[in-house]
Amino acid sequence: MDMDKLVSLCKRRGFLFQSSEIYGGLNGFWDYGPLGVELKRNVKEAWWRDMVTGHDELSQLPGAPSAYDMTGLDCTIIMHPQVWKCSGHYDLFHDFMVDCTSTKKRYRYDQIYAVTLSVKPNHSTNPEISKQQPFTEVWTTLASTPDEQKADLWKRAGGKYSVRSKNADEAFEMVDVKKLPDLVKAGTALTAVVAPDANVPGTLTAPREFNLMFKTIVGALGGEDDAAFLRPETAQGIFVNFKNVVDSSRVKVPFGIAQVGKSFRNEITPRNFTFRSREFEQMEIEFFCKPDTSQQWYKYWRDRRYQWYLDLGLPRERLQLREHHAEELSHYSIGTADIEYAFPFLPAGEFGELEGVAHRGDFDLRSHMEGKLDPNSKPDLKVELGPDGKPKHRGSGKDLSYFDDQARQRFVPHVIEPSAGADRATLAFLCEAYHEDTAPDENGKPQERVVLKLHPRLAPIKAAVLPLVKKDGMPEAAQKIYRALKKQFNVYYDDGGAVGRRYRRQDEIGTPYCITVDGQTLTDGTVTVRDRDSLKQWRIKAEECPAEIAKRINGE
Ligand code: GAP
Repeated sequence: MDMDKLVSLCKRRGFLFQSSEIYGGLNGFWDYGPLGVELKRNVKEAWWRDMVTGHDELSQLPGAPSAYDMTGLDCTIIMHPQVWKCSGHYDLFHDFMVDCTSTKKRYRYDQIYAVTLSVKPNHSTNPEISKQQPFTEVWTTLASTPDEQKADLWKRAGGKYSVRSKNADEAFEMVDVKKLPDLVKAGTALTAVVAPDANVPGTLTAPREFNLMFKTIVGALGGEDDAAFLRPETAQGIFVNFKNVVDSSRVKVPFGIAQVGKSFRNEITPRNFTFRSREFEQMEIEFFCKPDTSQQWYKYWRDRRYQWYLDLGLPRERLQLREHHAEELSHYSIGTADIEYAFPFLPAGEFGELEGVAHRGDFDLRSHMEGKLDPNSKPDLKVELGPDGKPKHRGSGKDLSYFDDQARQRFVPHVIEPSAGADRATLAFLCEAYHEDTAPDENGKPQERVVLKLHPRLAPIKAAVLPLVKKDGMPEAAQKIYRALKKQFNVYYDDGGAVGRRYRRQDEIGTPYCITVDGQTLTDGTVTVRDRDSLKQWRIKAEECPAEIAKRINGE
């Protein structure tokens, strides 16, 4: 699928716009247009319904170790700064970046691909190259696919070193494609690296840490003491409210708390449409369980979340569940799996993260409580001490342990965290939905069409109601159906132009059903329903439309 075509459709039909576009845009920020807002709401609502409100806490679901409760929260974006100290974000949430002193561009260190080229000296007219026998130069590029990287490199290498041979392949031999940190780790000095848009090697600075949290000021005085941060994840709001939820509701471990909301990260290189944005939405669950069942719960959530994407239309061949290797795991994590999708903007065979499912142990609750607890009085809630004998974290001092009254046991629950990105899921559903094919027009002639084959639950508009012509009482009959449907669904009324054109307008925005009022409607009260994907048409009674659409959307 050609990503440019999807990006252009998103703008043309009002799914996504660049933020502040009339002022030239702001990198890493996106606005959802009239159809985009519906699509993304449907993604978030499907998630909330499937994970929270639709959850049956009385039954044990397949694969689950027991029945469990689910509930929700909606926390603030700005929280007490100490939250970020204890979560580790203040000290550890950074990326390494490198600057190019020549182009003044900044790159994420781990995202610069470095390509080692062996240059055969006798093919180069550049005296600097000819001097070195044998010569190996390291080049870098940010191009998105290895093939593009290659093409770009050949072009730049040819231009810069005025290669004698007309055939660049004779002059250069591509040796390796690696990320920059691998090369630096392997001992390649940065002085040998040509930055993506630079002309000479050695313009990249050494990697420096860059905290990804957006800083702001709370209150009128505006000193450094008033500094606060926009949350980089929704999870911490859940952890710091754990006790409030336990004390105010009747949930019992095992249970999950869900939250959907904005998160902010000052990404060094936002890119790939909405995939890596600076403002985005997360859909997170923190699932609290007994430590001895946590492995089983981890497996349950990993598999359940993977299935959710399959159920909503991402195919198995482009969706993978990837368990992290031991060296990729955070120090507190027993297991983490990423759910990844083969986004079309990635090189063939590469996958991009949609969601991480992490076993976080008791790290978060412990971090938020440690610091003031008396380690002697509660042996199972020991505070981790630093070399100076003082608690390592300055936590809230509140006891965030849980008392299981049936087992008469106190413990710090372990947490399984399925953490998804609403924007990434929306983007994946859009990418998967985009198709070009042909559909017959009203005269039966095949016409090319663009169609978004979105799952009916996700489609922004569920049905379009179309009077065949604007006369003979057809508009009135169509409007009656439209109003009956509107009570339950987002539906659209369209009486403009040839019906084939109207079908194609709806296909392009993913409307799964078109209901057409025609001459027969006026005699027998039936309408045609057209299916966007199969193009099949069938007749039903006009008053059956709401039940028919409901049945088809919910797959009953
Ligand atoms: N609480 C855990 C956590 O935040 P994460 O892997 O950093 O984990 C979870 O983020 C999900 O949030 C990712 O899988 C992705 O879908 C989404 N996400 C993270 N950074 C993002 C960004 N810059 N733009 C869009 N989505 C992002």
